Formats: sequence, structure tokens, C-alpha cells
Amino acid sequence: MVPVLVVGVAWATPDAEVGALLAGLAGCASCHTAADGAPYAGGYAIETRFGTFYGSNLTPDPETGLGEWTEHDLLRALTRGRSPKHHPYWPAFPYTSFRRLTDEDVGHLWAYLRTLDPVVAEEREQEANAPGVGLWGWRRVAFHARDWKPLDDPELDRGAYLVEVVGHCGECHTPRNGIGQLKRKQALAGSDEPPHPAPDIRPETLKWTLGDWDTFLTMGMMPDGDFAGSGMRHVVRDGTAKLPEADRAAMIRWLMAPTE
Ligand code: HEC
Ligand code: HEC
Repeated sequence: MVPVLVVGVAWATPDAEVGALLAGLAGCASCHTAADGAPYAGGYAIETRFGTFYGSNLTPDPETGLGEWTEHDLLRALTRGRSPKHHPYWPAFPYTSFRRLTDEDVGHLWAYLRTLDPVVAEEREQEANAPGVGLWGWRRVAFHARDWKPLDDPELDRGAYLVEVVGHCGECHTPRNGIGQLKRKQALAGSDEPPHPAPDIRPETLKWTLGDWDTFLTMGMMPDGDFAGSGMRHVVRDGTAKLPEADRAAMIRWLMAPTE
């Protein structure tokens, strides 16, 4: 448990390397990089039942990227889902989970994004087709900015934060209601939602051992010897595989904790 506390303290000064780890687990590159495009320069299409949404250019280009942004603008985008001009973002950008990122972690992410090479990229219009559900109306019903309430057990708290907030596992693994809101009472119970239908990963369903989880989060291999594909591959490769051992262990504890 001690390393987790040490990590929390040691990470307080903005650190691009910590930011890179967080960005990897958060899948920032996967949604903000087009198939044949420069890393983080945007253009990747996310096809949902509410329309097609494009990850934007996160490189420091002043015209088409985040060159003119401040760290506070990034904090607002990730935790409030709003642009510097206060336009609301579409929730294909999973700020519904990122809303609980700590200020410190946004600082690390910001430090990391500043290290990217600026790339001039074409801006894409978002193509929403959400009949009857305006974005402001949707936000009133489905999006509430909320702080992280720490759990008493620091390791479990760290695990919960990495799973629920940074790793946003539920954005793919939790079923959604008619307006696309996560059904929190069925957390991680599996979802058939495009673009990444994802299986039920609750402990009572998977019945994985600690070793099964560790192998999976380190190399993507399941107990039957198959490797995770589809939307899951990058979560392991860029995310959980690169985390410090203590963070992976904390995530596993949370993932193996009985569902309420
Ligand atoms: C599941 C896909 C997905 C992931 C993961 C994701 N984003 Fe995005 N992001 C989007 C989409 C889609 C938009 C555009 C939303 C809109 O314009 O309404 C967006 C918009 C943004 C914006 C606003 C940019 C602008 O020019 O206004 C920022 C900043 C951003 N994302 C940062 C991040 C960071 C940092 C991460 C990782 C911590 C991340 N995103 C992870 C999909 C994603
Ligand atoms: C972008 C969507 C997405 C995110 C985010 C995501 N997953 Fe997945 N996950 C999937 C998909 C899709 C599969 C199925 C992969 C396949 O069929 O090969 C999967 C498979 C899995 C499996 C294998 C289960 C089985 O029985 O096959 C586990 C375990 C898992 N994910 C855990 C996690 C954890 C833990 C996180 C958060 C750190 C996470 N996932 C985040 C999409 C996602």
C-alpha cells in the first residue's frame, strides 16, 4: 500500500512522463489519432448510434490544435465537458468519466500534451444525429460534474480511480439506457453498444484469479490463451501494461471486489 501513497505524493509536480502513462491508460491517442495520421492530430471517427464524432487535434498547433490553450482550458474540457468558449462537447468524448480526474492528473496530462510535435490538421465537423435529445438537454439529465469521494482504503481508492475515471472501463463495459447514459447499477455488466460491444467483466461472471487478471492486464492474454482484440487491445498495450506494478495491483483489487 505504501508505494501507492508515495506515488500520489511524488506525482504532485506536473510531470510529462506521468502524463504519458495516464494518457496511455485513458486512451487519448486511440480516439485522437486517425488511422494513417500523425499521433494526436485528430480525425479518428467514432461511430455511435447518436452520430459520428471525430477526435480533435490535441497537438500544440496554435490554429488547429491546443496551442493557444491553457492548463485550465484542458481541465474544463476533461472535467466539465466544455470548450474554452463554453460550448458543450458531445459525450463520445468520455468526459462523463474524466469529470472526476484530479487537478494534479490534468496537470500531468497537460505537461505531456505540451511535449507533442505541433501538427496542422483539418478540423472536422461533428455529425450528430440525436433526434429529440439536444446536447444541453442531454447534459441536464445525464451529466453531473462530480468530485471523487475517496474510499477509506487508499489502495482500493487508487484502483477505483484508475478503473472508473482514468481507464473509463465502464464507457465500453457498462450498458447504456435509451439516451446513452451509463446504467451505473449495472457497472461493467457488458454492453452491446457500438462501436465497441464489450463483455461482462464483473468478478462473479469472469471468476478470474489474481494471476488471470495480472496476465491479462500485462499482456492481454485471457485464461483460455486468446488475446483481447477490438477496442481492448490498446487499453492493455498503451495503458495497463505500462503502469507501475502497484497501480496494476490496485486496479485488480478493485476489479475483483464484489459488485455491490
Ligand atoms: C472514446 C474516445 C475519446 C477518448 C478516449 C478521448 N477523447 Fe478527447 N475527444 C473525443 C471526441 C469525439 C472529441 C470531440 C468532442 C466534440 O467536439 O464535441 C474530443 C475532444 C477533446 C478535446 C477538445 C478539443 C478541442 O479542440 O476543443 C480535448 C482537449 C480532448 N478531447 C482531450 C482528451 C484527452 C487529454 C484524452 C485522454 C485523457 C481524451 N481526450 C480521450 C474523443 C475521445
Ligand atoms: C474502448 C472500449 C473499451 C475500454 C475503454 C475497455 N474495454 Fe475491455 N474490452 C473491450 C472489448 C471490445 C472487449 C472484447 C475484446 C475481444 O472480443 O477480443 C474487451 C474485453 C475485456 C476483457 C476480457 C473479458 C472476456 O471474458 O473476454 C477484460 C477482462 C476487459 N476488457 C477489461 C477491461 C478493463 C479492466 C478496462 C479498463 C482499464 C477495459 N476493459 C476498458 C472494450 C473496452
